[in-house]
Amino acid sequence: QIPPQIRCAQDYEMVARRFMAAPTYEYVAGGSGRDLTVAANLAAFARWSVYPRLLRDVTAGHTRLTLGGAAMAHPLLLAPVAFQSLAHVGGEVESARAAHATDSCLVASTLSSCPLEDIARAAGPQRWFQLYFQPRRDDTRLLLQRAEAAGYGAIVVTLDASIQAASLRALSAGFRMPAGCVAANLRGQAAAEPGPAGESRIFQGVMRDAPTWADLEWLLTRTTLPVWVKGVLHPDDARALQRLGVAGLVVSNHGGRGLDGAPASLDALPAVRAAVGAGFPLLFDGGIRSGLDVFKALALGADAVLVGRLQMYALSVAGALGVAHMIRLLREELEVCMALAGCATIDDIGIAALIESTGNPC
Ligand code: FNR
Repeated sequence: QIPPQIRCAQDYEMVARRFMAAPTYEYVAGGSGRDLTVAANLAAFARWSVYPRLLRDVTAGHTRLTLGGAAMAHPLLLAPVAFQSLAHVGGEVESARAAHATDSCLVASTLSSCPLEDIARAAGPQRWFQLYFQPRRDDTRLLLQRAEAAGYGAIVVTLDASIQAASLRALSAGFRMPAGCVAANLRGQAAAEPGPAGESRIFQGVMRDAPTWADLEWLLTRTTLPVWVKGVLHPDDARALQRLGVAGLVVSNHGGRGLDGAPASLDALPAVRAAVGAGFPLLFDGGIRSGLDVFKALALGADAVLVGRLQMYALSVAGALGVAHMIRLLREELEVCMALAGCATIDDIGIAALIESTGNPC
């Protein structure tokens, strides 16, 4: 069932073209606007190389870690990716099965095509819920209650996508969300009403429903679950969020789907780590395509990483089996890199393992 062309995790990107309709592939692969940030995310990894280190005994090596107090087998999480039925009829339930089979923590999106309860049943014990604030607080409260009741262990609130910025790539390819692909968690919720004529469609329109600091403070009082914030790039935001009492941060630019022109997540990571200090839980995503990329993100300050597009690609190719296989490949690629770099544990991976090298294709 796994096509023989798949030799490494990144191969799913290429092979997925055969399994998704072209407009759908463009929608998944593309970012917002002209894909400036998508390109930056990938290019940032190429600026770093990893030193091989010699003669170190790594035979007691492993990839275990604790993240926000929870023990994890490896530092790979499945990122919240909306509308997974675009990639496979089984949608998020397939990804959840893969997470369970590979001891991976899954972050289920508010905009999933399967209900969050179904995803929870298929996922392993490590499952978190990604929250988008809804225009009405009651709807947000209801989502929280459902996530808590379904046994999600943390809330990851995404704050960098208040506007759904158009993707020129998806537009050019003629992508349209299929009629059957709906946000299963949000059925029956009111759509935002248009503002009076003459007002800005953005400031007085879409952004009227965007969360502010007060909403985040409200959220922190409304749940006993740890609350992570996803979409942090500026060190001042990181410090302010840490002061507010969030459990951890996700350094992310939404895979280049938010502000086109935002810096590469990897470039923003060291300053955010410096701002929050060692020991504060920090996740990373944006551009992870290999175990080598995972190693570099950990070396630059992340505790663990989220995998976005590779998940959708693998899902389209072989459902749960594909996603589990992709995670296994990524994990093994990371282990090879750790072993040759002389790092027996995740804690051993640090900035000293890297050298900045412009022009190097690694
Ligand atoms: C996303 N992402 C996302 N993030 C989020 O918080 N909620 C969501 O519903 C979605 N939906 C979504 C759909 C699709 C098709 C993509 C590609 C991405 C962003 C995602 O969680 C993650 O930040 C990026 O995908 C990471 O970058 P890579 O791994 O795709 O390069």
